[in-house]
Amino acid sequence: MPDDDFVVTPWRVEGQIDYDRLIEKFGTRRIDAAMLARIEGAAGEGHFMLRRGVFFSHRDLGSILDAHAARRPFFVYTGRGPSGSTHIGHLVPWVFAKWLQDRFGVMVYFQLTDDEKFFAKRDLTLDDTHGLARENALDFVALGFDPKRTRVVIDTRHIRHLYPIAAQVAKHINFSNTRATFGFGGETNIGMIFYTSIQSAMCYIEDAPVLIPLGVDQDPHFRLTRDVAPLIGRPKPALIHNVMMPPLQGAGGKMGSSDPNSAIFTTDTPAEIRKKVNKYAFSGGRPDVAEHRRLGGNPDVDVSYQYLRMFFEPDDARLAEVREAYSSGSMLTGELKSILVERASEYLGAHQQRREEARGGLDGYMMAE
Ligand code: TRP
Repeated sequence: MPDDDFVVTPWRVEGQIDYDRLIEKFGTRRIDAAMLARIEGAAGEGHFMLRRGVFFSHRDLGSILDAHAARRPFFVYTGRGPSGSTHIGHLVPWVFAKWLQDRFGVMVYFQLTDDEKFFAKRDLTLDDTHGLARENALDFVALGFDPKRTRVVIDTRHIRHLYPIAAQVAKHINFSNTRATFGFGGETNIGMIFYTSIQSAMCYIEDAPVLIPLGVDQDPHFRLTRDVAPLIGRPKPALIHNVMMPPLQGAGGKMGSSDPNSAIFTTDTPAEIRKKVNKYAFSGGRPDVAEHRRLGGNPDVDVSYQYLRMFFEPDDARLAEVREAYSSGSMLTGELKSILVERASEYLGAHQQRREEARGGLDGYMMAE
C-alpha cells in the first residue's frame, strides 16, 4: 500500500481525501443504489444530500431500516465539539438529522462536548467551550427540531446521565487500542484518552438502537464503541457518514472554525459572504474569459458549485442548469460566485433570524439535569 497522502481523524483532516480509499481503510460500506432506494422507500421521499453522495457511507444502516420495518423504535444522535463558531460544514449532519426526525418521527439527541474541546485546545478554557456550546446549540435549534422529540446534552452539565455508561465503555477500551485509533502519544492528556467513552455513552442514552449522522472524521470513536458494544450487552450504533465540506480555498482538508477565511459561518453577513467568496472561493474557471467561453469551467473542482451541490441548492433542476451553464462556458466564474452569494445570504439570513429566536427557548431543548 502506498503511503496515504491524506489524514482523516477526529482532530485532524488534511490532504485531498480519496473517499473510496477511506471506505476501505475505515472498513465502512458505500451507500449503493440499493441502499439509497431502501432509505428513500422507508422515508417516503429522498433527500438531496443522499442522492448527491454527500452522505456516502454507512455502518449497519440496514439494521435500522429493519427495525423501522418491524415497527421497532430507533433514535438519532449527533453532536458538536464547541471549539468555535458554527459553519455550514457543521450543519450538514444536523440538517440530515432534522430530516430523519421529520420522516421517521424519532427522538434526536444532540451532544455538545465542551469537555472534549477543553482537552483538545490548549488556548480554550472550560468557560470558553461551555459558552461556545450554548452558541452552537442555537444553530442546531434554529433548524426547526421538534422540542418534544429533541434533547440537547452538554457534557459538563449532564455528566451524571452519561457517566455510568461511560464507565462501562471505558473499562473495555485499553490504552494501546485508543492510541492506535487516534495516534495518541506520551504527551496526550488523559482527558483525551478517556473522552471516547463519553461520546460513546450517548449511544445508550435510550434503550433502543441508534442511528448517528456524522462527518466521516468522527468514525474512529464509534469504531471503538462498536467493538465494545457486545461486551457490555448493547447494540452496535449504526452510522451514516457525510463527506467533509471543502474549505473555500479548495484542494484538501476541511472547512475549519480555526481559519475564518476557510469557512462560511452561520453568523456571516451578506457582505462578509460576498467578500470571502469573491476573494477565496477556489474557481474551476479558465484563466481568461475567451478560453472559458471556448472550453467551459470545471464544476467538480469549483468550490462555489460544490457548496451549491452539497448544501445551498436542494433543487436538482436548478443545480443542473448551473452545472450545464458553467461547464459549457456560458456562465463565468463571477456569475457562479454571485449565485452562491445570493443563495447563501438568503439561507443564512433566515437561519440567523431563527437562531436569535431560539435564544429564549434554548432551555426547553435541554435535557433535564
Ligand atoms: N467529537 C465531535 C466533534 O468534535 C462532537 C460529537 C460528539 C459528535 N458526539 C457526536 C459528532 C456524535 C458526531 C456524532 O465535533
